[in-house]
Amino acid sequence: MKLDTRKIRTYKKKSAKKPLQMLTCYDFQTAQLLNDSSLDLILVGDSVGNVVLGYDHTIQVDIETMILFSKAVKKGAPDKFVIGDLPFGTYATMDLALKNSINLFQQSGIEAIKLEGAFPFECEIIERLTQIGIPVMGHIGLTPQSVHEQGGYYTHGKDQVSMTRLMKEALALEKAGCFAVVLEFVEESLAKKITEKLSIPTIGIGSGKNTDGQVLVINDLLHLGKKDPPKFCKPIGNIYEIKAKLISEYLK
Ligand code: KIV
Repeated sequence: MKLDTRKIRTYKKKSAKKPLQMLTCYDFQTAQLLNDSSLDLILVGDSVGNVVLGYDHTIQVDIETMILFSKAVKKGAPDKFVIGDLPFGTYATMDLALKNSINLFQQSGIEAIKLEGAFPFECEIIERLTQIGIPVMGHIGLTPQSVHEQGGYYTHGKDQVSMTRLMKEALALEKAGCFAVVLEFVEESLAKKITEKLSIPTIGIGSGKNTDGQVLVINDLLHLGKKDPPKFCKPIGNIYEIKAKLISEYLK
């Protein structure tokens, strides 16, 4: 069953008894496979920069890249609710945010966009985008586009200042019109509190098991890459090794 924003907005794990499951996807053939699965949501993440294009940071990803990969995924997954990331710098002003969101949404045919951060400025953008008909998923905690500003990759919400800020951000995103919020590397007990407080679903990554949904980078889940995935992700196989073995057998 294809989800829509009305169904997602009211999805809470407590009553649904199962978490919303979201995976990233970047290509047509994997999208076809996910389209035939029971997966709830597909995210064309700007993590495409890291896992597909070999960049050090998502900061290097531009809007043309997101349009290209989102188009491929939407083509392969017509029956799924697909969300695409607005990349770094493409929503630095209201004009840029409108222009780039409309381009990504219209050219790729995806159902929603995701952007990082909350206030004050991002909430104004979210309000405007939802007014013109573009659904927005929020994203707070560790926001990789701000890695240099945040001072690296680490768990957020460990001290009182950060806890208070994250709770305020989550509530502001809900008020601005987000249909769901990603909590990335948010301290587990705070992620639980935010989840209880919001009426829209929280989707966690590295934030414990108490969020309404979970998102994983598919390359980590399947161990597609050479490097081991981050600790919080338990791969369900090692496709890198399988491929390496097959190629070496072929080359014999
Ligand atoms: O780009 C991405 O893959 C993401 C997820 C980690 C939430 O934003």
